Amino acid sequence: MFAKTYYLHSYGCQMNLADSGILAAAMEGAGYRPVADPVEAGVIILNTCSVRERAETRAIGRLRELAGLKKNGDSCLCAVGCMAQRLGDRLINLVPELDFVLGTERLFDLPRLLASRNGSPTVDTVMGGDSDWAELAPVPDNPYTANVTITRGCDNYCAYCIVPYVRGPERHRAPAAIIDDIKRLAGRGILEVTLVGQNVNSYVYGEIRFPDLIRRVARDTDIPRIRFITSHPKDLSDDLIALLADEPKLMGHVHLPLQSGSDRILALMFRGYGYDRYRERVSGLRRARPDIAVTTDLMVGFPGETEAEYQMTLAAVREIAFDAAFMFRYSVREGTWAADHMADDVPEPVKLERLTALIGLQKEVAYQVNQREIGRTRSVLIDGVSRRDAAILKGKTEGNKTILLRGGADLRGRIVPVTVTAADSWTLHGEPAA
Ligand code: SAH
Ligand code: SF4
Ligand code: F3S
Repeated sequence: MFAKTYYLHSYGCQMNLADSGILAAAMEGAGYRPVADPVEAGVIILNTCSVRERAETRAIGRLRELAGLKKNGDSCLCAVGCMAQRLGDRLINLVPELDFVLGTERLFDLPRLLASRNGSPTVDTVMGGDSDWAELAPVPDNPYTANVTITRGCDNYCAYCIVPYVRGPERHRAPAAIIDDIKRLAGRGILEVTLVGQNVNSYVYGEIRFPDLIRRVARDTDIPRIRFITSHPKDLSDDLIALLADEPKLMGHVHLPLQSGSDRILALMFRGYGYDRYRERVSGLRRARPDIAVTTDLMVGFPGETEAEYQMTLAAVREIAFDAAFMFRYSVREGTWAADHMADDVPEPVKLERLTALIGLQKEVAYQVNQREIGRTRSVLIDGVSRRDAAILKGKTEGNKTILLRGGADLRGRIVPVTVTAADSWTLHGEPAA
């Protein structure tokens, strides 16, 4: 019999992180204790991502490494989440040592399945079943911040994207359940919650829309800081922009994936907005809250993307001046609209060249944007220490930027004003404000 310890690592986006928090709660509820080293774990779990081919090859590589640990004793290897959902049985062929392959709606059943384990691998990727699991209060992923799922799935079917297929249709959680989770987290000392969904802006529950939900969280809980991710530009409402102007608990950061600066490409992607509309939304945000941080996702090499269209993405990066961006090369995902209807015709070396130049430009832009922070005082949640030097504290600004500072250990777990003294493209440096 394997030890009642578990190791859980999450790949992919905020949805997987939030699910890992719920799975951790389910495991701990069944008497399993978390360990940081897979060598010590009776149950080894990877929560996997499918969004690009590389996300899958990485996870498969890691599963094969972890499979090696099974030789030393009786441990149990589990792949859960989006790639498990997509590949199902095929994943057992790729990694025969796997004991469990559980999809995005089945992972929370793991403790029960472990109790009745019979030695042969279990694959369960059924979707659309009952969803009691969604109501387990998540274990936060650090002592100060936590993710709370408000929406599951996605109905947008962007041409390139696998998410709707692996996560199912959009479903919204009841406001009361969300508020309960947040109250419990605030009771445990959590200082910041992030409301998560693939498109939080489309949240609706009866009469309650996304800005109403945030107002309730601000009013009915003691949580000091509220964030949300991800915003879809087509659904970012005037009401949300107005709320960003006058709700002090709401942090000044919006992650608003643009994908491309070309209207033709955006239309082929089925994104539901053009560049002018996107720019107008960002202007609205900045008028409402001048210090707001705007971050984005960008993709190069979508089928048919010409050099001129790619240049429009570069122009958008210069014009909008994003605080930060995640940047990707288009990756064909089996079963998506683009995979079935469009040729992956931008050669790989061209994609790579475009991506490298885009990353280079964004690095310059972020450097310039961050220089403007110097001299400003920001409210910072001190949540840990620098990876390189444990004597240096690390925190997060309202705009979700990492800031490093010197200060007493007593500052950890507090929200304090910090004056920015220096900045590079990725990190701010500061000192506690007088
Ligand atoms: N729901 C979010 C995006 C979630 S996926 C939104 O609509 O904005 C995160 C990012 O991965 C996307 O914004 C996109 O830039 C990238 N992405 C998704 N599918 C991809 C693919 N097939 N190839 C390359 N990048 C992809
Ligand atoms: Fe994917 Fe589009 Fe849904 Fe985002 S909105 S998860 S990119 S289908
Ligand atoms: Fe990946 Fe699944 Fe998120 S595919 S990006 S972990 S929803």
